[in-house]
Amino acid sequence: MAKTYAITLRKGGCGKTTTAVNLATALEQKRQRVLLVDLDPQANATLSVGIDPTSLKYNINSLFTSVDVTPEDVIVKTNFGLDVLPSHPDLAKTEAGMTATQIGMMKGILDPVEEYYDFIFIDTPPSESYLSIAALTYVQYVIIPLQAHFLAMQALTQAMEDIEHVKKGLNPDIKIKGILFTMVNPRTNIAKTVMQEVREQYGDLVFPIEITFSIRHVEATLAGIPIVLFDPNHPGSEAYKKLAEVILNG
Ligand SMILES: Nc1ncnc2c1ncn2[C@@H]1O[C@H](COP(=O)(O)OP(=O)(O)OP(=O)(O)O)[C@@H](O)[C@H]1O
Ligand SMILES: [Mg+2]
Repeated sequence: MAKTYAITLRKGGCGKTTTAVNLATALEQKRQRVLLVDLDPQANATLSVGIDPTSLKYNINSLFTSVDVTPEDVIVKTNFGLDVLPSHPDLAKTEAGMTATQIGMMKGILDPVEEYYDFIFIDTPPSESYLSIAALTYVQYVIIPLQAHFLAMQALTQAMEDIEHVKKGLNPDIKIKGILFTMVNPRTNIAKTVMQEVREQYGDLVFPIEITFSIRHVEATLAGIPIVLFDPNHPGSEAYKKLAEVILNG
């Protein structure tokens, strides 16, 4: 049965999609059966693996809005072999009017395919979205990508509160797998200060891997190819592959 992960933080542009996409791809390259779920109306994860959301008949929004559509109808394969449940800007309409029953729908949506995968990774939107809560009600584990920059601590405290609330009610078994520092510029004092503060407060929850800032990540995103394939020997790729190893081993 699949191990299920949400990559989440309300702060925009902190590396959620980049982390979800590269972790999923790195594990797929290690011969794991992986499904990448794009639960963000921006469809950035879908685009980042080279899929044009507008070219598809179905997308994840079809599963929220239509009872006749199955996940098998929606899942597509990238040209490098990763299974993806694609998103579409239409998901924003569902997000805007999301009902209590829809918040609990992730389980119903993914249950039928869980047995086909070793790992399911859900990329979530920024901001106060019920879609993120929908992901948190379903998953076993959470990964929090954190840019070592201003307001990081505030965003992290918020994420911890969201997870605590979900733990108290909708998903008592949810666990934080780890906090991942992203876009780190090791030369700046702010990065050093933030990382030190987070380590002091959350200790063991911080992954022993950091993703440094590099424009190569942006180039990979624009090319629609995960950096672990776009530039496999880049330090960013090595870091994401190491993270995949950590996830695989525990
Ligand atoms: N380590 C990095 N160094 C430099 N740029 C990066 C790095 N990681 C990601 N990026 C770039 O930063 C931008 C934002 O990253 P990403 O889309 O992963 O963040 P996000 O948290 O998913 O954003 P959103 O909140 O909008 O969903 C992208 O253009 C991506 O290519
Ligand atoms: Mg994103």
